[in-house]
Amino acid sequence: MRAARLLRSTPFRLALTFGFLFVLAFLVTGTIVYAMLKRELAEALDASVRETYSVVASTYSSGDLEDLSAAINTYARLSRSDDQVYLLLDDKGERLAGNLGSVSVDDGLSSVSASNLGLKGDEQFRIMAGNVGRYRLVFGHSFAETDEVEETALASFAWGAGVIVALAFGGGAILANRAQHRLQGIARAMSEVSNGNLSPRIPLSGNGDDIDVVSKHMNEALDRLSALVEGMRQVSADIAHDLKTPLNRLRMTIEQAMQQSERGEDVQDRLVEARAESDRINATFEALLRISQIEAGARKTRFRPVDLMDVLQSVSEIYRSVAEDNDQELEFISEVKLPCMIVGDRELLTQLFVNLIENAITHCPPKTQITMKLAVDGRSFRVTVADDGPGIPAGERELVFRRLYRLDKSRTTPGSGLGLSLVKAIADLHAASIVLDDRKPGLDAILRFPAQQLG
Ligand SMILES: Nc1ncnc2c1ncn2[C@@H]1O[C@H](COP(=O)(O)OP(=O)(O)OP(=O)(O)O)[C@@H](O)[C@H]1O
Ligand SMILES: [Mg+2]
Repeated sequence: MRAARLLRSTPFRLALTFGFLFVLAFLVTGTIVYAMLKRELAEALDASVRETYSVVASTYSSGDLEDLSAAINTYARLSRSDDQVYLLLDDKGERLAGNLGSVSVDDGLSSVSASNLGLKGDEQFRIMAGNVGRYRLVFGHSFAETDEVEETALASFAWGAGVIVALAFGGGAILANRAQHRLQGIARAMSEVSNGNLSPRIPLSGNGDDIDVVSKHMNEALDRLSALVEGMRQVSADIAHDLKTPLNRLRMTIEQAMQQSERGEDVQDRLVEARAESDRINATFEALLRISQIEAGARKTRFRPVDLMDVLQSVSEIYRSVAEDNDQELEFISEVKLPCMIVGDRELLTQLFVNLIENAITHCPPKTQITMKLAVDGRSFRVTVADDGPGIPAGERELVFRRLYRLDKSRTTPGSGLGLSLVKAIADLHAASIVLDDRKPGLDAILRFPAQQLG
């Protein structure tokens, strides 16, 4: 089972292919080397046969047959085994000296078998024959030594090939097994994820190879996915929980109306109350849908160049009087003189600043000073909406961005806890960052918008 899975695995198939290629390369190289060696040995044997023949023949330079015969007999005796053959024949073909019976051999170099030389065995000889004066001289050397060298070379190639095959396939199997093991880790984690468990992560080997890089990206994607799913779960639970209160209120109002009507009393007030409650529930749903729509990013198609200064100016003009009605003061300070162009949706940006100012007006007491400030900060525009009201405790400054989250002390003030969620969604859509800070006293909402790239 395990072996079958290993055989099917991509790493093992790769290792197998490389193993085959490796062995093929070794065989081709081996064959070339063997052929060259064989040719070299043959050429060396021919040269040695020619040289010995001319050394022997040179003893006849004085024309003395006695010297030649004596030299041939001495050489023949000295030859260790039967691997060298000498023969001297007279012009009638009678044997005069040497360790061969009289045989006829073609002139020059030729290969002759032992049986054709009247010898035992099935060896081959390299023979040189020619005339020396009136006589015929034959000298030969067996192929035994060159055959031995060739056989040794062949044997070492065979051993080498064996070791290489074992190393290529054995090593390939080990490497493939290791890669397979890691791929199985990925497969296991992903199969758990597809079964609905988002907690498993792919184990990393730590050596930073390509499998590690892919695994790291997949783990990051899983982190993000589980954070999103967890967020969705949280939101659904919060929404279900928070909408129960207004729905209960609505039910109680309807019940009161029914009781009043049974008693024959006027129910007009109760109906107005019920309509206001259902309007509030409706508004909450609409705001929730709006946030989801913004988070989905569909509004990006409506992005145009927008001047932040212009947006802030019109918001401050409209809300100055609202603040005054609340006995508060709203001021807009711009540290920049030129237009501050970003790419965005003017309507959503207006909504963002309106929500922040409405929060300052609603959640701060009379006499509060509200300040909107625009400044350039490196390659971004910084907008601050600050007040000197009660502020938000440090532990809740992140939580207030969650849908329907409100501080306990705000439970009695009107609102649904969606204003800052919308602010965050709009800021994210514009690639802007938002941080809530302590102004001691009060709250500082700091937004950073990336400036529009020029050109
Ligand atoms: N400027 C502020 N000063 C003090 N507390 C604030 C301020 N802005 C927001 N908060 C607190 O943060 C909570 C969440 O604000 P958010 O705007 O999301 O909801 P909301 O104002 O209560 O309702 P909505 O904006 O939906 O009408 C508020 O309920 C309030 O407790
Ligand atoms: Mg609000």
